Amino acid sequence: MSRKKLMAANWKMFKTPDQAREFFRDFLPLVAGHDRDEIAVCPPFVCLPAAVEAAKGSNVAIGGQDMFWEQEGAFTGEVSTGMLLAVGCTHVIIGHSERRQYFGESDDTVNLKLKAALAAGLTPIVCVGEVLEEREANLTEDVLRRQCLRAFHAISGKKATKLVVAYEPVWAIGTGKTATPQLASEAHALIRGEAAKAFGQELADKLRILYGGSVKPENAKALMAEEEIDGALVGGASLDPRSFAAIVKY
Ligand code: 13P
Repeated sequence: MSRKKLMAANWKMFKTPDQAREFFRDFLPLVAGHDRDEIAVCPPFVCLPAAVEAAKGSNVAIGGQDMFWEQEGAFTGEVSTGMLLAVGCTHVIIGHSERRQYFGESDDTVNLKLKAALAAGLTPIVCVGEVLEEREANLTEDVLRRQCLRAFHAISGKKATKLVVAYEPVWAIGTGKTATPQLASEAHALIRGEAAKAFGQELADKLRILYGGSVKPENAKALMAEEEIDGALVGGASLDPRSFAAIVKY
């Protein structure tokens, strides 16, 4: 089964609109004509209009880093799927470990967000992954199973066709420690198994599972060579246009 890889940037809380424009000015020529993989960049909310404008007509899609499941209302600080679509987003990250760790995101809110993103026609990138203590206590499989089971709850295979999952072991995020390609592969296979249970084998075979956690130009090739790894979700190394382009073109 060959799956087109998705190479996605998560800028986290970095860059202003001007800095986003500057990034695209340098990045787009470096990846012009690259159609082997899909490319997406997820900047902070305030940069989305500038990013969409800068990337217009290119091979780079733009996504949000989070969303709320209601369409509108008294929800101070939140952004809906309709708002993301209105500014030209096609992708959205859901359940990033930093949202889980610092902002009270739970498996259940991930499920609500995933349902809303799919209903809106966005491509959701749902993040799962174990923390260091869980890995050391041999709980990785249990954690990934639970996160997938709850994230995918009550969603039909028919509705989930755009789903993308990112496996991001929390101990590898921003630490310079990368999961070995083999270790990532094992986690991806487990996630694919959970997707098969929830959505059926056909969708699971097509499901793209990205790896995230200290992906750099130096390690991208080895990770992307794994059959089970269908792209990358890149934090720190996506902030520099040359480094993200080198990862995209691994
Ligand atoms: P780093 O690439 O900085 O480790 O971040 C990974 C990540 O969290 C992407 O969502």
